[in-house]
Order: sequence, then C-alpha cells, then structure tokens
Amino acid sequence: MWFLITVIAGLALFQVPEHACEDFGYDGVIGPTYWGDRYQECRGKHQSPININVLRVKQVALPDIAFVGFDDSIDDVHITNNGHTVLIEVENEPHPRVSGGPLDGAYVFSQMHFHWGDNDTFGSEDKINHRSFPMELHMVFYKEEYKSVKQAIKYSDGLAVLAFFYELDRHKHPAYDDITSALGNVTEPHTTIVMSQPFSFLNILPLDLRRYFTYRGSLTTPPCSEVVIWLDFEQPIRLAHDQIEAFRELRSANGKIRHNFRPIQPIGDRVVFYNVDNNYFNYNEIDDPDEANAGTNRRKKGHNYSNIVRINLYIFVCTLLIMW
Ligand SMILES: *[C@@H]1O[C@H](CO)[C@@H](O)[C@H](O)[C@H]1NC(C)=O
Ligand SMILES: *[C@@H]1O[C@H](CO)[C@@H](O)[C@H](O)[C@H]1NC(C)=O
Ligand SMILES: *[C@@H]1O[C@H](CO)[C@@H](O)[C@H](O)[C@H]1NC(C)=O
Ligand SMILES: [Zn+2]
Repeated sequence: MWFLITVIAGLALFQVPEHACEDFGYDGVIGPTYWGDRYQECRGKHQSPININVLRVKQVALPDIAFVGFDDSIDDVHITNNGHTVLIEVENEPHPRVSGGPLDGAYVFSQMHFHWGDNDTFGSEDKINHRSFPMELHMVFYKEEYKSVKQAIKYSDGLAVLAFFYELDRHKHPAYDDITSALGNVTEPHTTIVMSQPFSFLNILPLDLRRYFTYRGSLTTPPCSEVVIWLDFEQPIRLAHDQIEAFRELRSANGKIRHNFRPIQPIGDRVVFYNVDNNYFNYNEIDDPDEANAGTNRRKKGHNYSNIVRINLYIFVCTLLIMW
C-alpha cells in the first residue's frame, strides 16, 4: 500500500520537472535575454541572427553549390514537435547533402525546422535591411568529415545552415499542404509522426538557389555555438496566410508557441558576402548577337569592363528594389 503511494508520488514528482523546466524559451525568465546565464556562448561576438544591410555586403561569385539528393522522393519523413519548433528529419541513406559555394567539403543533412512570429509582420530570425519575414526555414547540415552534429559543433566550420525566408501569397503552396496537415497531429510537445506522403527537398524550396548571402555565425538557440556557415537565400518561398497560421497552433510545455525567433545580434567585425550568379556573365556573352556572329571561339577571356560595371549596377539596383 505505502509502497504504491510512494511510487505514484514519485512518478508525479518526476512529471513536474519535465513540464515546468523547458531549458529555454522565448519569453520571460527563460527568454533570449537570459540564455547567456546558462549558456556562455550566447554572449559571444559572432552570434546569429543578424540584420543584413544590403549596402554593406561584399559581392562575390562563389563556385556553384551542389545540391545532392534534393530531388529524391523521400519516404518515412519524421515530423516532430520538440517544444521549441517543428523538426523534419529523414531516414533515407545516403542523406541529402550540399557542397560548393562557400563550403569546403561536403555537408550532410541533419534536420530542418522553422521559426515564426505571432503574426505575419514578424517571424524570421535574420532580417534584410531590417525587414522581417513571417517565417524562416533552417536546413541544418554537418560537415561530413566530423561524422555527426555532436562532433561537428566542436569545430568552427562544423555546420552549414541553408536559410529560406517566407512571404505571403494569396495561393496555397501545394507542397506545403502535406506538412501543414501533419502539423495537426503534433500539436503537443514531444510528439512525432511519420508523414503519410513522400517528400522532396526541391519541392519546398524557391526556384532561384543561386543568389544568397553568406556569413559566419552561431546556432540561434542555446547553446548558441559559433560554428555555423550561414547561407541565406534571397528569393523567398511564397505561402498562404493559413499555411503559416498552422505553425502557430503548435504547443510547448508553456502553451502555444506563438513566436520562436531570437532577436538580432550585433554583427561586430563580420562581413556578409553576397553571391551573385556565377553564370550570369557567361549567359550574357552567349546571348550577345555580336559575339555569336563573330564565331564561338573568338570569345575574349577578360570581361569588357564597362559591361561588368553595367551588370553590377543592375544587380545592385535590382537588389535594392527587391529588398525595399
Ligand atoms: C504583430 O505582433 C507584434 C508583436 O509581436 C505586435 O506588436 C503587432 O501589433 C502585431 N501586429 C498586428 C497587425 O497584429
Ligand atoms: C494527421 O491528421 C489528419 C487529420 O487531421 C489525417 O488526415 C492524417 O492522415 C494524419 N496523419 C498524418 C501522418 O498526417
Ligand atoms: C565594351 O562594351 C561597350 C558597350 O557594350 C562598347 O561600347 C565598347 O566598345 C566595349 N569595349 C571593348 C574594349 O570591347
Ligand atoms: Zn533555426
């Protein structure tokens, strides 16, 4: 009898810490202001997210990124509410991977997750010219050489995160319907389901994967390790309001996860690079009728300086227009 009561009381006590002690959150005493108390690195000098000032970026033409396995149709995709966000993980082998761009070596997919805000005016973590987007996708990859995320976060080039912004559209994005309908089954924290439909990475991404900002930063959640090469793609993904709203129904131990974005951090001495399309110049040359008439082998090695100035000016003005 007493034994039983003790066991039940013991179990009851055990339940309390699990629910009352989310180790971090986005409000009050477990909010971002206090993360540094428990996690030293959250007070570091190279933290994420940041505001990207488009007037201060350094233009570069990096090698193409190789997206391997991004068009595979993947079964057994797991969707998990971890109490902070919703995670999408895959079981297929080999995992999708990326290389090229600013990356040295191959990076293997680990998981993807989302950050959102209370309403459609906020939600992204990084900002562009102080503009917020309603939601942001993070695809997390670890450097293959380091074998696992756990090992990789001991190295300054351990992780690469591909970040994508969302913006509103009147129409639903069909590829996201499978995700949002699955969200209804993981509203409670620490629940997982296997998605009923196969899933492909490319289907949920924007078309233009050539233009992106890249900089060195950190995880945007504790322990805030400064081990991330960020790639923020410029073209947003377009979702309907209802599709974003579905994420706001998810719950943590403390109620609905209404927002889960960290405020921007000082950029400090860091430089943000802006990758302009590496093939843009070639594309122009081939399309130039004079060049075509002159014969294919006579193409000059060096670029015509005035053309480069023109193209850069064009890119610059377009960027301003898009970002405004
Ligand atoms: C959106 O949410 C922010 C707080 O996160 C609030 O200040 C703002 O008034 C809200 N805007 C609308 C249109 O509800
Ligand atoms: C989730 O719930 C919906 C009904 O709300 C159901 O149609 C669907 O099959 C469930 N399971 C998955 C894996 O989405
Ligand atoms: C460079 O291009 C401009 C405009 O396209 C042209 O006027 C100029 O002659 C070119 N210069 C050379 C050196 O090819
Ligand atoms: Zn994230």
